[in-house]
Amino acid sequence: MSQDAVRTLPLVEVEDVAAGTYWLRFALPAGLDCEPGHFFMLSAPSAGGAATMGAPFLGRPLSIGDVAGGRLHFLVRALGRATAWFRSLPSGTPLRLVGPLGRPFALPERPVHRMVAGGIGLAPFFYLARRLRHRQPAARIELLYGERTADAHARLAGPERDLFDLVERCTDDGSLGQPGTVVGMLDGPFEDAGAAWYACGPQPMLRALAARLESMGVEGAQFSLEERMACGFGVCQACIVPRRDPPPAYRLLCMEGPVVDPREVAW
Ligand SMILES: Cc1cc2nc3c(=O)[nH]c(=O)nc-3n(C[C@H](O)[C@H](O)[C@H](O)COP(=O)(O)OP(=O)(O)OC[C@H]3O[C@@H](n4cnc5c(N)ncnc54)[C@H](O)[C@@H]3O)c2cc1C
Ligand code: FES
Repeated sequence: MSQDAVRTLPLVEVEDVAAGTYWLRFALPAGLDCEPGHFFMLSAPSAGGAATMGAPFLGRPLSIGDVAGGRLHFLVRALGRATAWFRSLPSGTPLRLVGPLGRPFALPERPVHRMVAGGIGLAPFFYLARRLRHRQPAARIELLYGERTADAHARLAGPERDLFDLVERCTDDGSLGQPGTVVGMLDGPFEDAGAAWYACGPQPMLRALAARLESMGVEGAQFSLEERMACGFGVCQACIVPRRDPPPAYRLLCMEGPVVDPREVAW
């Protein structure tokens, strides 16, 4: 990892988009070269001082949510200590960002690109859709997005909504969109093995989706996985994911992911 990958950036804005979910925005650093699927480790700039009160010691990985309007955006769900702390910060607070890290999404040439998001797994798909729009203007970009309840569904307004040709929502409790899980949405019009498939979400959803796509004969799907990460660049060995076909039996998700082919994972 080069020194250029470490930056201290002032927080520009926090915007709530659903219960417990918010955009965290920074001014885009000059010369930043990042791809959809890359992630950053975010933390307090250093120990001590007012800006670090309540900050966790270790950084937390966040996918690049979007790069637009001269800003670097992260879509975050408040789950625990760090993600609640980020939400509490006033504009201007400096944060340490290390990245871009990891292996990003490939952008295959296809007529249809279908993104399957469970919960905060929505985060990487705005920038992915933006890049695909730019590179393949005639392609159709679809988002299948599921949450447990209606109040957890992120608001998608104006330019964010316009990145997608289709947005289909579902909820586990049927309070918004189709009732059931996002994997259940695949029955019918979305049983199209020829699309480029992308997914991000909780492990049980990804496991079920991997089995479903395999049964449909889909090749080359790309899943963005999550594991606990302490460093983000291959040192701590915290982020191991078992492989289906050893050797080696494991991969480090921060270096060989987070984007992986689901057929290579021992779910
Ligand atoms: C490559 C990568 C990209 C990510 N991108 C995003 C993103 O764009 N937006 C976003 O909101 N989150 C993202 N995450 C998850 C985010 O890093 C965790 O939610 C965050 O670390 C939780 O920190 P915390 O201190 O708030 O929670 P903690 O207090 O550390 O934990 C709270 C709860 O969340 C669970 N948890 C913590 N980290 C993870 C994890 N990585 N996976 C599953 N469960 C976890 C814990 O087991 C615990 O139950 C990403 C994770 C990875 C690995
Ligand atoms: S997060 Fe430290 S090795 Fe992957």
